[in-house]
Amino acid sequence: MSAPYLQAAGLEVAFGGLRALRDCSFVVDQGRITCLVGPNGAGKTTIFNAITGFLKPQQGSVSFKGRILDGMKPQAIVHAGIARSFQNLRLFQDLTALDNVLVALPDMAGEEPLGALFRPLHAHRATGRRRVDALEILEHVGLVEKSREFVRNLSYGEQKLLTIARLLATGAELLLLDEPASGLSHGALEALMALLRRLQTEGKTLLVVEHNTRVVQKIADDVLFLHQGHLMARGTPEQIISDPALAEIYFGGAI
Ligand SMILES: Nc1ncnc2c1ncn2[C@@H]1O[C@H](COP(=O)(O)OP(=O)(O)OP(=O)(O)O)[C@@H](O)[C@H]1O
Ligand SMILES: [Mg+2]
Repeated sequence: MSAPYLQAAGLEVAFGGLRALRDCSFVVDQGRITCLVGPNGAGKTTIFNAITGFLKPQQGSVSFKGRILDGMKPQAIVHAGIARSFQNLRLFQDLTALDNVLVALPDMAGEEPLGALFRPLHAHRATGRRRVDALEILEHVGLVEKSREFVRNLSYGEQKLLTIARLLATGAELLLLDEPASGLSHGALEALMALLRRLQTEGKTLLVVEHNTRVVQKIADDVLFLHQGHLMARGTPEQIISDPALAEIYFGGAI
């Protein structure tokens, strides 16, 4: 039997006395869109931080295609094929959309893989080839007409698409998206869902934190339900959404 695509096993993360993840275990299957749901503070972002090397769990292990990631730095994990977005976007507001993608492209010279992510001025050394690649990625997410716009002049929906463009620029095959749909208008939401499905057909695997049940129903193949840092349930969107015990936890009895 081959190793699971992404596997988290027995993750424990505590902040002082607060246990943010408790014996948290799950698998993400290759080629699927998995939605990670759960109430505010359930530990969803903490899972992303644990997978991508932004924090080190006190216990437990994460492996990707059979390779143990424990102790690896964020940049090395991107290099291994996993890229994540942030709830608060973390774009360079005073750079153009194009430059934001350029700085996320792996360094062709190879002196420091992905170091450019942390060095915006590096973009000015961009070669023609890199510009073509970056423009292609912007085209792919529907932002090519905005390539020369400064990020601060983009709408919130456009900024969210740009964060996905930056993930694509890394070349990673597994994308972790932290609430990509939150705050989007109806039109932007439809564009986002179409993009996520397109990425899936192109071979990407997606793990998506999502609060909007309509979005979960539309895009998820699998749903992971997190409660108080523990993976409580896994199922199809229908199974999870129709479970009265989970609805009680999620909505506090509101439905
Ligand atoms: N760096 C930190 N220091 C202290 N407490 C933290 C830290 N990061 C997260 N927490 C706490 O851990 C718990 C889980 O937080 P996390 O951000 O993972 O939740 P979440 O499921 O992503 O919530 P939301 O839906 O609001 O984004 C929360 O109680 C949060 O306050
Ligand atoms: Mg969060």
